[in-house]
Amino acid sequence: MIPETAHPRPGEARKVLIAPSILSADFGRLRAHVAEAVDAGAEWLHVDVMDGHFVPNLTIGPLIVEALREYCRERKVILDVHLMIEEPDRYIADFAKAGADVLTVHVEASRHLHRSIQAIRALGVTPGVTLNPATPLSTLEEILPYVGNVLVMSVNPGFGGQSYIPSSTRKIERLRKMLDDVNPSAFLEVDGGIKPGNAREAVAAGAQVLVAGSAVFGGDVFQNIGALRAAAASAQDHASQ
Ligand code: DX5
Ligand code: ZN
Repeated sequence: MIPETAHPRPGEARKVLIAPSILSADFGRLRAHVAEAVDAGAEWLHVDVMDGHFVPNLTIGPLIVEALREYCRERKVILDVHLMIEEPDRYIADFAKAGADVLTVHVEASRHLHRSIQAIRALGVTPGVTLNPATPLSTLEEILPYVGNVLVMSVNPGFGGQSYIPSSTRKIERLRKMLDDVNPSAFLEVDGGIKPGNAREAVAAGAQVLVAGSAVFGGDVFQNIGALRAAAASAQDHASQ
């Protein structure tokens, strides 16, 4: 669970948070690779769970979350688990037990979304909701007051290393307004194709949490996180002028 005090407060400047996606990490030395990102200042760690049904790829289960839990607790890093799976309710308890702080489900994958969100919260985990690029924001309208995190997918989910879909920026902007109205303390996260070249526009549109896989773990992790941070900061400096 993300502590209540760590959530953004209405009217206060939101600190941009970097959430490296381990999908692009070297799994042969996962813990060490993750540690490079944390040492470089990453605040969240994004875990992409895929089932081969909801998306055409198979990835990570609760075992990997559990393997990272102790390290993340020690370093006060938020374990941010993105469930790209059909019928997510079947696995919510397993991921909660494994140590997820945030569990984000797809609006397209949950038949009873409100029930899924309540079940996540009841297990002491921050509930999140997300939607595919072609899914309209209106599908989130009723659930927004109940969640702690809203994730905008800026690529079609399934694989790392894809290109940011430009219309995502406008979607972030519109979601920002919706959240400001009904749930300003929720996090607004963006996931897919985030690079230093577009991080600025995503932050300027209102994103607070930047997921980045290939842009963090491809090459020098320290430099990569520095470049993302600088791009995000440039959007915030611009906004405060
Ligand atoms: C895509 C995943 C993303 C992905 C991001 O289905 O949800 O989290 O790993 O990777 P990049 O940053 O390389 O697009
Ligand atoms: Zn993801």
